[in-house]
Amino acid sequence: MINIEVNGILQSFSAEREKESLLTILREDLALHGTKNGCGIGACGACTVLVDGVPRRSCVTKLAKVDGCQILTIEGLEQADGTLHPVQQAFMDAGAVQCGFCTPGMILTAVALLETNPQPTDQELRRAFRHNLCRCTGYEQIFEAVRLAQKRMVKK
Ligand code: FES
Ligand code: FES
Repeated sequence: MINIEVNGILQSFSAEREKESLLTILREDLALHGTKNGCGIGACGACTVLVDGVPRRSCVTKLAKVDGCQILTIEGLEQADGTLHPVQQAFMDAGAVQCGFCTPGMILTAVALLETNPQPTDQELRRAFRHNLCRCTGYEQIFEAVRLAQKRMVKK
């Protein structure tokens, strides 16, 4: 068996499925449709989830590679009472969401960045998003949202 913890819940899959992508498991088995299937070849970042806190493109991550890992998807980010994570709230407040297709991957990338580097430089910020494409926003609102979340998280 392959065991993964997804948003705090243990999930088990037959070892025969080891070559399936984590994206397929999340979307088709667990109905976690917040993780988007953009390109399916690792080029757009829409499928980004956190694996043990690190952003990973789930479309090119085989299930076998995440055996025993903790997976966080966008559905697992808000609190039990529905309160949004500061990064989610900042994306809304900064107008960083347009069509929303890239947004779950962008938000999870931002969460991982701010947890490991609470005060990134502009260069570090842009580098963190190098695997995440957005066709709508031009990126500036996304970077503004990360800066807004950063300020709010420091104040806490
Ligand atoms: S869907 Fe995975 S990188 Fe595009
Ligand atoms: S908001 Fe549409 S792709 Fe980013």
